[in-house]
Amino acid sequence: MESSQRKWWKEGVVYQIYPRSFQDTTGNGIGDIQGIIQRLDYIKSLGIDIIWLCPVYQSPNDDNGYDISDYQNIMEEFGTMADFDQLLEGMHKRGLKLVMDLVVNHTSDEHHWFQESRKSRDNPYRDYYHWWPAEKGTPPKRFSYFDVDGNAWKYDEQTDSYYLHYFSVKQPDLKWENPKVRQEIHDMMHFWFKKGVDGFRMDVIPFISKDISYPELPEKYNGNFVPFYANGPKLHDYLHEMNQEVLSKYDVMTVGETPGVDRDQALLFVDEDREELNMFFHFELMSLDREGDEVFWMRSDPWKLTEFKKIFSDWDETFAEKGWGSLFLSNHDNPRTVSRWGNDSPEHWYNSTTMLQTFLLTMKGTPYFYYGDEIGMSNIRFDNIEDYQDINTLNRYALLKQRGVDLETFIENEKEAARDNGRTPMQWDNTTNAGFTQSKPWLKVHPNHKEGLNVAEQEKDTGSVLNYFRKMVQVRKDHLGLVYGDYKLLLKNNEQVYAYTRIMDDEKYLILLSFSTEPASIDLSTEGFGELSLIISNDLSTADKGNGKFELRPYQACVYQI
Ligand code: GLC
Repeated sequence: MESSQRKWWKEGVVYQIYPRSFQDTTGNGIGDIQGIIQRLDYIKSLGIDIIWLCPVYQSPNDDNGYDISDYQNIMEEFGTMADFDQLLEGMHKRGLKLVMDLVVNHTSDEHHWFQESRKSRDNPYRDYYHWWPAEKGTPPKRFSYFDVDGNAWKYDEQTDSYYLHYFSVKQPDLKWENPKVRQEIHDMMHFWFKKGVDGFRMDVIPFISKDISYPELPEKYNGNFVPFYANGPKLHDYLHEMNQEVLSKYDVMTVGETPGVDRDQALLFVDEDREELNMFFHFELMSLDREGDEVFWMRSDPWKLTEFKKIFSDWDETFAEKGWGSLFLSNHDNPRTVSRWGNDSPEHWYNSTTMLQTFLLTMKGTPYFYYGDEIGMSNIRFDNIEDYQDINTLNRYALLKQRGVDLETFIENEKEAARDNGRTPMQWDNTTNAGFTQSKPWLKVHPNHKEGLNVAEQEKDTGSVLNYFRKMVQVRKDHLGLVYGDYKLLLKNNEQVYAYTRIMDDEKYLILLSFSTEPASIDLSTEGFGELSLIISNDLSTADKGNGKFELRPYQACVYQI
């Protein structure tokens, strides 16, 4: 392993915080920066190296901070810039790095730039956004994720024009073609880097370049609109420019959120020689259990383990020589890890949660955990639309209502699909509201915090999910081959067990993961592994039956040294 190839952002384990839901200290039912500060020792105790903090900038919260009205100020509900500085200092003192969210495809409509832009057609800020003058007729269809009519063009009377918003009407898209916009963003990034921030996660970054002739969409775009209106012709120019003007001047990490980017395009973003980004989050896994149109229905038949393996194996191959992958099973836009990829029934919750932790921590790529994954938080599955707070669920509900679609089916769908499943408050203890807040939480707390699913109780139990997570993080840290070693898939066609090796010089590991509710027998005798030594398992029963034969209990995970 050449030391020049080693990087802190490849060896680190990331913990994502949704600040609204982490810890309230002011009693307004909303998490805040002081709350994160209070919990830094806890985060450090997990073995985490890097925190990715979802947006904390000033925002009217149409999309919980992803609609920014001032990039260089802190949202009042979360605290002040002094709190932020204290957070950063507290993190650096503990050896933790801070990655912020960079949301620059769009701003809030309450951002000063947009307020100016909409005033008149000759305002100096007019060209900061995408406008379509009404005298040219109705603009060509563009789909919007969070619009009640699904329409990304909003008519604005003041200048008799439409503006473009791929997300809600309160999230107008910035016009990156304008060099002034790019300059403003670069300056803003310098501002944060000069404070000492260690990187950015870049929100929907391929969307920043568009075909600004706004061609008509083809008749049949099959719900997959991204290639037709994002990932545009100038994308890599902009990213390279950002790298040269800003990123290359600091030792920072970058990870793009890249809907619509497939394997063929992957290295354009992360091939080191191209000087753009370090990593990105592809959407292939997050689409595996969804289907159909723009509404993101859950797939009707269950996803298959062979499909899951193929996604991870294909992406591993993509980055075999160049670039670097990011590994995640959930985030603030998705349901909870154990409910989606494991099994949150009482019988299988423990093993499946810890098995999935083992998976992320033994794969090649940087692992990202979402707050609460370390204790196995699960989907809340609201029965009533009134319980939801997320604009995505609420506006899709409104859209389907207009279209006369059966809303009961939608509510059932959201029990597995909704983003709010992943946003319920952090479960610190078994008191009212799980120790998250002293007052009414902005989003309901999962009742299972009363049943052992909380930090305080899991701290006391050496065999808890939380303590398994700590041990497993340490296993990754103690074995560099689990970070950099080559990955090889075994038993490709097995629908119960995911098996692979990781090999770096003479460091060799075998990882066996059951994704099944039934016991599973496998035969690896032809691999000639010889004697194996068990490094860690989430289940006390011995899986290794000798001579390359194994019997795994439901959701058992085993990591062996070969
Ligand atoms: C990204 C964010 C999501 C947000 C959207 C619009 O997908 O992860 O939370 O709603 O962009 O900013």
